[in-house]
Amino acid sequence: MAENNHDAAEEGDNQLLSALPKKEGMWKPFFLYRGCWLTPRSVTSITLLQSQFAPRPDDVVLATFPKCGTTWLKALAFAVANRSRHPAGSGAHPLLTTHPQDLVPFLELPHRDVHPVAALDGLPSPRLLSTHMPAPLLPLSISALGCRVVYLCREPKDVFVSSWHYMNKVTADFSLDMDATFELFCEGFSLYGPLWDHVRGYWEQSVAEPDRVLFLKYDDMMADAGKHVKMLADFLRVPFTDEEVSGGAVEEVVAMCSFENLKSLPVNSSGVSDRIGGMPMENSSYFRAGKVGDWKTHLTEEMAKKLDCIVEEKLRGSGLTF
Ligand code: A3P
Repeated sequence: MAENNHDAAEEGDNQLLSALPKKEGMWKPFFLYRGCWLTPRSVTSITLLQSQFAPRPDDVVLATFPKCGTTWLKALAFAVANRSRHPAGSGAHPLLTTHPQDLVPFLELPHRDVHPVAALDGLPSPRLLSTHMPAPLLPLSISALGCRVVYLCREPKDVFVSSWHYMNKVTADFSLDMDATFELFCEGFSLYGPLWDHVRGYWEQSVAEPDRVLFLKYDDMMADAGKHVKMLADFLRVPFTDEEVSGGAVEEVVAMCSFENLKSLPVNSSGVSDRIGGMPMENSSYFRAGKVGDWKTHLTEEMAKKLDCIVEEKLRGSGLTF
């Protein structure tokens, strides 16, 4: 983006941000933009995206609340969609040398470093894209054009624990107290929060338009990854053939994208990358425990009950439970 556009965007940001509710408690203040807590950079990126992004009917968007398994979903979707060119398990597979986060770009790229439209316009069709945006913040043209969305959610207590660990790695001189952060999470204050609004928004879309929005749960995927890989392939319109199934192609995708395998690869276990601008993170920070129910080793019974009650109440009537 030209420097004068930078300045204009920055000025616009400041005007917009100064009108939004602001809250401290994380590594930097967050702003409440249309019901969603965001960093200042995300507000800018999302507003730019809403006015400038040109979706294509064959785009597929992988949508997640942070720490719900985005990295895993990116790896699986990339492996499934590109398996005719890159068979899973082949010695030259891109997942062996590229972090899954970098194989599927986020829609809400930071405007300062990569102009979102220019960066995304250059990608060949069909595009696999990703986002942490809640459904109401997605550019309206995405649903109007019928772009498909894969949404992956996760048990909220595990999401909290995973995000607490992750956020403690954001900067060396910053640490979050678990109890205080938990209270904020219960108030709905977390990056892209409230969690329940995020999940409910995509859930309701998936109920209304099941052919356009595929709703997945991390715990179900952990219990039977093969079933979900097949489901994903059907949804991406690249179903596994009988020969592929009998030849073990599904299991190869599952094995290549497993937590243990991805975590062990040098590209994912070493080095630091600044993917979203101003927030360098260790590549390994996307692979921590990879377990269902890890909250049990971090939260008291009382904390667990409190969050369960809030989530139950917020999802009441939707048909969605955890
Ligand atoms: P934990 O912190 O509970 O281990 P995201 O990718 O949305 O940032 O989510 C990160 C969470 O997904 C982390 O959870 C991480 O360990 C887990 N994860 C990463 N890769 C995975 C994989 N291949 N299979 C299962 N879980 C994975």
